[in-house]
Amino acid sequence: MRVLVTGGAGFVGSFVIDGLVAAGHDVIAVDSLHPHAHRRVPDYLNPRAEYVWGDLRDAAVVRTAVAGIDAVSHQASMVGLGVDFGDVLDYVTNNDLATATLLAALHEQRFTGRIVLGSSMVVYGEGRYRCRDHGIVRAGPRDPRRLDRAEWEPTCPCCGRALVAEPVPEEASVDPRNVYAATKLHQEHLVEAYGREHGSSTIVLRYHNVYGPRMPAQTPYAGVASIFRSAYQAGEAPRLYEDGAQKRDFVHVSDVARANIAALRVAPELSTTCNIASGHPVEIRRVAAALAAAYEPCAPEPVVTGRYRIGDVRHVFASIERARDVLGFSPAITPEQGLREFAVAPLRDFGNAGRPVPGLERSAPGA
Ligand code: UD1
Repeated sequence: MRVLVTGGAGFVGSFVIDGLVAAGHDVIAVDSLHPHAHRRVPDYLNPRAEYVWGDLRDAAVVRTAVAGIDAVSHQASMVGLGVDFGDVLDYVTNNDLATATLLAALHEQRFTGRIVLGSSMVVYGEGRYRCRDHGIVRAGPRDPRRLDRAEWEPTCPCCGRALVAEPVPEEASVDPRNVYAATKLHQEHLVEAYGREHGSSTIVLRYHNVYGPRMPAQTPYAGVASIFRSAYQAGEAPRLYEDGAQKRDFVHVSDVARANIAALRVAPELSTTCNIASGHPVEIRRVAAALAAAYEPCAPEPVVTGRYRIGDVRHVFASIERARDVLGFSPAITPEQGLREFAVAPLRDFGNAGRPVPGLERSAPGA
């Protein structure tokens, strides 16, 4: 099978390529080496894949990349909450417009193969909550006045009582709460619309908090695991927003890559959406503690800032039953084990590794 992997120099994309190459597939990767994520061509690229250094928003680049492919693994995305709303154009063009350009090129080819989309749990907004009296309820938008009083937990919209967070299933209603989340949901809708119109199978993978080697080092666009790890490495205390008790599901990038390979292999007529997570939710302060273990005895105590980010949600973690049933997905690495290793694993080096970013060019396998 010849597979196009978008975002192939990136964190998840590069691991997907390693898995595909190991399984004997031909890979063509497209990556723009976006400056938010790369200062150099990374040195971990699989030499048996073919790379096109170009922008997915460029129809000419994409037309070349889609020629003769059997499947698409669409991983390219600008991630994270970003700096502020000023990032909106970057998110919309890099995520929505790029996806539209890719799908338009596939349409020109009358492509009917499988498309796997790397999406995100951010499309849910808050996770799932249960009220003792009112059952499953939807937590409304977070009220800044409550947050200013350090009232972090969402309450029942019917009775105002405390709620209990539960794993979110794929059929939960979507509620994107920031620009990035809105673009990820739009990507899902665009890909699904393509699938319906062309009879293509589409598999949407909603990643929870992915971490592991090759993650970009500290930037406003990096995830919390990388930010905390960078802090410990620099001998600084990680800063916990809210009270640090917010829950997420941290899933190792190698498990995410395996889910992607499985998604490319399932029955050709299947289209579905799956959460990809470890199934072991943890509080953010536990993430700091797990990373600190590698830096003891001199790891500084995390600082509970009591500050919050607009657009953040309180708890979101996953049910992975569908991924187990449909993809045979069984995460191999628990957060406890993976975060301990991650504390000392190589991050994407922004300083001096790899080669300088070239202009738009292409490199052949083995080059
Ligand atoms: C993360 C990713 C998002 C991805 C999603 C699912 C980033 C920035 N976000 O979203 O792209 O789609 O997982 O894979 O990569 N926090 C702190 N201190 C910090 C930074 C964060 O306490 O210095 C807290 C936040 O308030 C939040 C939690 O850590 O409660 C997670 O934040 P973050 O890593 O930014 O990720 P998500 O928003 O969960």
